[in-house]
Amino acid sequence: MANLTATKPIDALMREAQDTSEHCLKRTLGPVSLIMLGIGAIIGAGLFVRTAAAIADRSGPSVTLAFIVAGFGCAFAGLCYAEFASMIPVAGSAYTYSYATMGELVAWIIGWDLVLEYAVGAATVAIAWSEYFNRVLGWFNARIPYEWSHSPLETMADTGSRGIINLPAIFILLILSALLIKGTKESAIVNGLIVILKVTIVIIVIGIGWGFINPANHTPFIPPPATYVTPQGITHHYGGLLGILGAAGVVFFAYIGFDAVSTAAQEAKNPKRDMPIGILGSLVICTILYVLFAYVLSGVATVEDFRSSGREASVAFAITKYMHGYEWLSKSVTVAILAGFSSVILVMLLGQSRVFYSMSKDGLVPRVFSDVHPRFRTPYRSNMLFFVFTGLFAAFLPEDIVGEMTSIGTLFAFVLVCIGVWILRRRRPDLQRAFKVPAVPFVSTAGVIICGAMIYGLGWTNWLRLIVWLFIGLLIYFTYGRRHSKVQLAVESPALQPKGAPSMAD
Ligand code: ALA
Repeated sequence: MANLTATKPIDALMREAQDTSEHCLKRTLGPVSLIMLGIGAIIGAGLFVRTAAAIADRSGPSVTLAFIVAGFGCAFAGLCYAEFASMIPVAGSAYTYSYATMGELVAWIIGWDLVLEYAVGAATVAIAWSEYFNRVLGWFNARIPYEWSHSPLETMADTGSRGIINLPAIFILLILSALLIKGTKESAIVNGLIVILKVTIVIIVIGIGWGFINPANHTPFIPPPATYVTPQGITHHYGGLLGILGAAGVVFFAYIGFDAVSTAAQEAKNPKRDMPIGILGSLVICTILYVLFAYVLSGVATVEDFRSSGREASVAFAITKYMHGYEWLSKSVTVAILAGFSSVILVMLLGQSRVFYSMSKDGLVPRVFSDVHPRFRTPYRSNMLFFVFTGLFAAFLPEDIVGEMTSIGTLFAFVLVCIGVWILRRRRPDLQRAFKVPAVPFVSTAGVIICGAMIYGLGWTNWLRLIVWLFIGLLIYFTYGRRHSKVQLAVESPALQPKGAPSMAD
């Protein structure tokens, strides 16, 4: 009989992290690379595409408040992440932390849930990339037809054309998966350059756009409660408190990624010190930029714009339509955004392969996910398989659906991490923590409440998608993971395990 609450011993985790044999990942990342990795994953489609969707469908100009709510949720969860990451500096993120604290079943749920965050998140950004890419092609009168750059669930308002497959989204996923297979260090250098570019462009848009804010677009700042039916026929609360919470759930996507830093812990040179710096540093910088950016974007263009032709490539659209004389900015933004999205996809795909690397080492998913390339020392087979998975999502689903699935999946994982940090404080107060969350349980409880409120705000269609996703995950766990788990094998036949490292034999 399997023990679903069996935990992976923390000491064994640490031994695993110190293993530098050729089957393991290389330690190449310092604190600056980690903050870069964080910002690389954070600023992307959430800001440049999902903000407009939140304004249109949920909150109008009060999207600015939504960013603040989401920022608080992330800050509390981020503190919890940082404590875990400083204590358990191994690859795998929330999955690994929960395996050491809340047992195998919860760890599985989180690991499975993180597929929504990383893989489905990468698919979302790839779809957003496709929008801006088409805009670039438009400068040369060479747009990819609507049918070949949208999913079958999307229809163009003016012409009635229906999408077939999103080819540009598949294309970018292919290029970046190939880059990842080649190696983390090279990817980190490309990422660093892109981060500088996108932060610069965000600051320029805020600076220049501020002068183009039309106060009428900010009035009323919080629209009265109503409902809005999207072109796909989904009804959302619009305005009022529920509008803000729903928008917070949508733009929460923009914050996803700071925790991706923790998935690279096994590649950090000094994880104990650098993990909290990487996670919290990138989070603080991004929050400030987001709030200002959302204020400007919702002030420059109208809600109606974002409900119609301004919904796609929204930032470039708003600049072109309202900021006359700044077409150069619209073009530079588009190029920077394309590069920025690429760095987000890169980190998401990296995080995904690292989570499954850990899960595979533990026996919960097949061995193929931890096969390391003999020369590049990257989990290349995993990268290839996730290219296929993310490609299918990006090709055949609309951005709204995959974006909101990403948000709700990540929020759920955050809730579990906040609970986990508190449990571990009580169960293992003896463990060394290079970084300690202040005011536990207040901070962890606040994290649970705010992330829970955003889950609530996302509405029942998303709850249902999450439940179906978790159900599929449990089926896989009970038919495969539980039977192959190394921790379970150790529980069932301890005599077969090497002394001192019962659950860690590879
Ligand atoms: N935070 C990332 C983005 O907004 C996922 O694209």
